[in-house]
Amino acid sequence: MSHDASAGAAPTPPKDIRERADRADPLKDGEARPITGGAHAPQIHDSAVKQVQGAASYIDDIPAPAGCLHIAFGGSPVAHGRLRSVNLDAVRAAEGVVAVLTAADIPGRNDCSTAAGDEELLATETLHYHMQPVFAVVATSHLLARRAARLAEWDVEELPALVSVADAVAAQSFFDPEPYAFLKGDPAPALAAAPHRLKGRVEIGGQEHFYLETQIALAIPGEDMDVKVHSSTQHPTEIQHKVAEVLGTPYNAVEVEVRRMGGGFGGKESQGNAPAQIAAVAAKALNRPVKIRYDRDDDMSITGKRHDFVVDYDVAFDDAGRIEAVIYDQYARCGWSMDLSLPVCDRAMFHADNAYYLPHARINSYRCRTNTCSNTAFRGFGGPQGLAACERMMDHIAHVLGKDPLEVRKANLYDRPGGARVETPYGMEVKDNILHELIPALEEQAGYAARREEIAAFNARSKHLKKGIALTPVKFGISFTLTHMNQAAALVHVYTDGSIHLNHGGTEMGQGLFVKCAQVAAEAFQVDVDRIKITPTNTGKAANTSPTAASSGTDVNGMATLNACEAIKARMAAHAAALLGGDAEAVEFRGGRVFSGARSIAFADLAKQCWMARIHLSSTGHYATPDIHWDRPAGKGKPFYYFAYGAAVTEAAVDLFTGEYRLTRAHILHDAGRSLNPAVDLGQIEGAYVQGAGWLTTEELVWDPKGRLWTHAPSTYKIPTASDRPAMEIRLWHEDNPRPTIHKSKAVGEPPLMLGVSAWLALSDACAACGPNYPDLSAPATPERVLAAIARAKGTEW
Ligand code: MTE
Ligand code: MOS
Repeated sequence: MSHDASAGAAPTPPKDIRERADRADPLKDGEARPITGGAHAPQIHDSAVKQVQGAASYIDDIPAPAGCLHIAFGGSPVAHGRLRSVNLDAVRAAEGVVAVLTAADIPGRNDCSTAAGDEELLATETLHYHMQPVFAVVATSHLLARRAARLAEWDVEELPALVSVADAVAAQSFFDPEPYAFLKGDPAPALAAAPHRLKGRVEIGGQEHFYLETQIALAIPGEDMDVKVHSSTQHPTEIQHKVAEVLGTPYNAVEVEVRRMGGGFGGKESQGNAPAQIAAVAAKALNRPVKIRYDRDDDMSITGKRHDFVVDYDVAFDDAGRIEAVIYDQYARCGWSMDLSLPVCDRAMFHADNAYYLPHARINSYRCRTNTCSNTAFRGFGGPQGLAACERMMDHIAHVLGKDPLEVRKANLYDRPGGARVETPYGMEVKDNILHELIPALEEQAGYAARREEIAAFNARSKHLKKGIALTPVKFGISFTLTHMNQAAALVHVYTDGSIHLNHGGTEMGQGLFVKCAQVAAEAFQVDVDRIKITPTNTGKAANTSPTAASSGTDVNGMATLNACEAIKARMAAHAAALLGGDAEAVEFRGGRVFSGARSIAFADLAKQCWMARIHLSSTGHYATPDIHWDRPAGKGKPFYYFAYGAAVTEAAVDLFTGEYRLTRAHILHDAGRSLNPAVDLGQIEGAYVQGAGWLTTEELVWDPKGRLWTHAPSTYKIPTASDRPAMEIRLWHEDNPRPTIHKSKAVGEPPLMLGVSAWLALSDACAACGPNYPDLSAPATPERVLAAIARAKGTEW
């Protein structure tokens, strides 16, 4: 007993005894036992229990540092105007206000854009959209800051606002004077010569991200030029850069940390810049910690959303519905600034083929500039809009020919690997198509053929209720189309008790990236996953990272993690061979132990022994996706490492009196390669389907003619609720990714969102049962639009 231990305290063995116990026979052989939570285990999300307990920490849960102040933006009262002046006297005099910042108070560059340099953090002369931040109120509380922000007196010359795609087209308001285009073959003569030709137009609405945690940042000033920013962002490195720019400091003065987001869905790739920057500016100006949290209404008004599209198609096909040529004109509402619209609109073009071979194709992309919030990344990143238009066109072709749309879809699929019909409109060959096998498997799973007959029989006898069914596939390209972004970094430490610290540049937004990377580390070291400490993303640990986006988070961070683990393992293996005898190359990590031949040592004991022998137990890891390239000016290349596939069947029932409907059943078969974590992947698929179905059915964004968003709260904007979810059966496709991705898995974050297209087209199918004409159902298919589509099908007035 230690002589100074107070009575009743737990006895602590003296230090020398503890060390002796640790050293007791470390080389004692033992049995390997299966680890828990390795690769492919259905491991529970690391935050799941904490989330239901309210114990998972978000930025607003970080105890406010002493003297913390709060910011609210004061926003433009008009969608377009010239700012003559704004009188802020009443704002400054309001209760609790400590400071009011305008553009003049920004020490560095007044810009919050991702790359284009076209977004003032605080507007100066021209006002580009309603609620655009013009000044920032710093006050003692969130509420007092918001209240004071309302007291500004504006002197503004209001100008005409372009609100919709139609407004922008009428005014020829585009970001590029000429449309960006992909061209394959020679579509014009093929269109003129084909047996059937069809023109159509489809409108596809935007979508609010509706992450549960709104945009938020907490900035804490440090010594010299330093500042630490907690930000709810998918892109900590960009926050670091933009904060440094706005402060006029080098990047190394800024540390950005993200433990987790309460959802991102693409809405936190760039839209976190402004709040993080303004918090940092205020924190440095006042030398106090400062927090900004958008109120829900402010978040919905200020931040960008999914781009809404209008797509015109002019398509030629044969009697079987096989497409011979198509010209698409895609018009996207980008909003007032570029933000990520260039790659988003590009991805809409990359997915204008979905899963189908287009022998001759021209895809024109018009990027419309409007006086609305700057639209941004949203799960699928433009891909869903391009794909939805393609599927609507397939549905239309089938209607014209009087065929089951599924038949037309199958007739147009890219060939199996090795076939002749494999080249995309952008010059890449599809070499991993599995839809010829996956679609029939799903038909079987869903009983498609029998249900199609049952539905026809039901519709024949039912007057006021009609049912519809649709099976739609997904093919989604995996990789950032900006090639240099396909890289990642990780940092791993093994401690001397065998516990492991894992860090990488990816961010956790609910998608399960952290648990998957922890599984990769557990599998590599052959220890239980609970030995891996998941740590917050931090620009000081993993540097120069890409956003967690394009579904590639696990692909790239998992590989970077593995590379870091392998570097440490090589050093540990060499020492294990020295201790146990044998060849380092033959050393094996298995079931919590490290084996050289028959002899073994516990992983934790080996870690301790390595440290005693002064062997480095930390490593960084880096990964760059191989074998991809993209020539954007030419519109040709191989931008994707591989494709992820899937398909869904949805059945719907529509009330012909009211246009109301229910999605009754959904069957899904989705390709996650050799799933790294089937539990997480099934959750991703289910959530994505529901989010996709919501986008195309009930989620409607409405702006008034003056460019003010009317649907800026959950009272007017309808995301799906639990009861809107159909009865679902989800299965994973059984094949490995043929590419050498992390444990042969495939990216799963975005592709299943597009399975929701089957819900929309099931509604279209039900409308088509009402009369002889094509119902021309656009999205979102709100009950109003469904009623109009029924009237079109019948050929009656609505
Ligand atoms: N899942 C949850 N729960 N929350 C999210 O915000 N974002 C989606 C998807 N799944 C998201 C999600 C989007 S837009 C992308 S790009 C991927 O997750 C990003 O993560 P990953 O690359 O690790 O799949
Ligand atoms: Mo996802 S839209 O790539 O963040």
